[in-house]
Amino acid sequence: MKDIFERIKETPGPLGQYQANADGYFMFPRLEGEIGPEMVFNGKKVLNWSLNNYLGLANMPEVREADAQGARDFGMAAPMGARMMSGDTKYHKQLEQDLAHYVGKPYGYLVNFGYQAMISIIDVLTSRRDVIVYDSESHACIMDGLRLSFAKRYVYQHNDMESLRKQLAQACKLADEQGGGVLVITEGVFGMAGDLGNLAGIVALKKEFPFRLLIDDAHGFGTMGPKGDGTAAHFGVIDELDVYFATFAKSMAGIGAFVASEKYVVDHLRFNMRSQIFAKSLPMPMVIGAMKRLELIKTRPEIREKLWTIANALQSGLKAEGFDLGRTQSPVTPVYLKGDPGQATNLIVDLRENHGIFCSMVLYPVVPKGVIMLRIIPTAAHTMEHVNRTIEVFKEVKKKLDAGEYNKPIPTMCLVKD
Ligand SMILES: Cc1ncc(COP(=O)(O)O)c(C=O)c1O
Repeated sequence: MKDIFERIKETPGPLGQYQANADGYFMFPRLEGEIGPEMVFNGKKVLNWSLNNYLGLANMPEVREADAQGARDFGMAAPMGARMMSGDTKYHKQLEQDLAHYVGKPYGYLVNFGYQAMISIIDVLTSRRDVIVYDSESHACIMDGLRLSFAKRYVYQHNDMESLRKQLAQACKLADEQGGGVLVITEGVFGMAGDLGNLAGIVALKKEFPFRLLIDDAHGFGTMGPKGDGTAAHFGVIDELDVYFATFAKSMAGIGAFVASEKYVVDHLRFNMRSQIFAKSLPMPMVIGAMKRLELIKTRPEIREKLWTIANALQSGLKAEGFDLGRTQSPVTPVYLKGDPGQATNLIVDLRENHGIFCSMVLYPVVPKGVIMLRIIPTAAHTMEHVNRTIEVFKEVKKKLDAGEYNKPIPTMCLVKD
């Protein structure tokens, strides 16, 4: 018999295989200083485009003060225990109702992490008689929810309504035979490519097929919709959407998440989501801090407008210079280049070390082989000077890439020595 750890030594995993070259630099980089567009990486000041702090709330004095007040008044420990046992408060209730009403749903429930909650939501909403139909580019939390659920599943090609129609026809037939129902799952904004889930198209299919629709609007809450009320509001389909979900990890610059729907659905989730029943309630500073963030989203639309001004300037400027931004329709700004991992990593080192620009790099299998995606996340805290500087630098590195200057093996930039 093998020692179970033998396999760990032999196969470090798809990402772990790069540890010796990448730990602390390409992976697990440490950004230091105040959260914002200008931070310190590897001892140098960088212009940072790598935080999902869309509205720039993370470091606003009002937000910092609310977080601190929450900690002063209640401490980090409160409330103790899971929500169901001893961790409920009137503040949790108030926040989840305010969030639900803001996105246009009657009832809401606060959860402690988006990832865990989504897994449980899928688990709870479906039984072995049901069938799930989901978008092929769904986030890992949706994929892991599918793995946990006993429901059968069909995948449709990303945002392809013909593919969805075909899968729905099969799914509805199977569900009918099994005495179950159908749940469609997609995202509001796809966080890598930045395109929107075709919610109008999906909702239109409700005329042909009986199904319920759940969306993960992690990147859409706060950025999309007339009030930052999300991607369903953007499409005007909140009433046809059955379950709305968003995390605080993006626009809200916090921790936590919420789910919103009809009261009986939310009640069923409250009483059955194992990731919440068997885990501690969201700490009070997170709740008090989230209340302040929601107040700012509601009352200061100019913050969201600033985000879009920066995002539009960045995207139109890059497009004007011939950059391929794929299909983005949101602030998420992917820049697609052609190259291999050696070229990509050398380009990133040049960007960080010589041009002081920090963004994330995305490679195969998230994008096809031979494609480099530089993922830029504009925020309301960025300035036009940041935008213009970045476009100039991107022009320069693209020239170098095309001229073969990055045709080198993956550099060893490992900063973690222990
Ligand atoms: C689409 C999507 N869903 C869910 C999550 C997970 O949310 P959380 O960070 O609150 O666990 C993320 C990332 O944060 C995400 O991008």
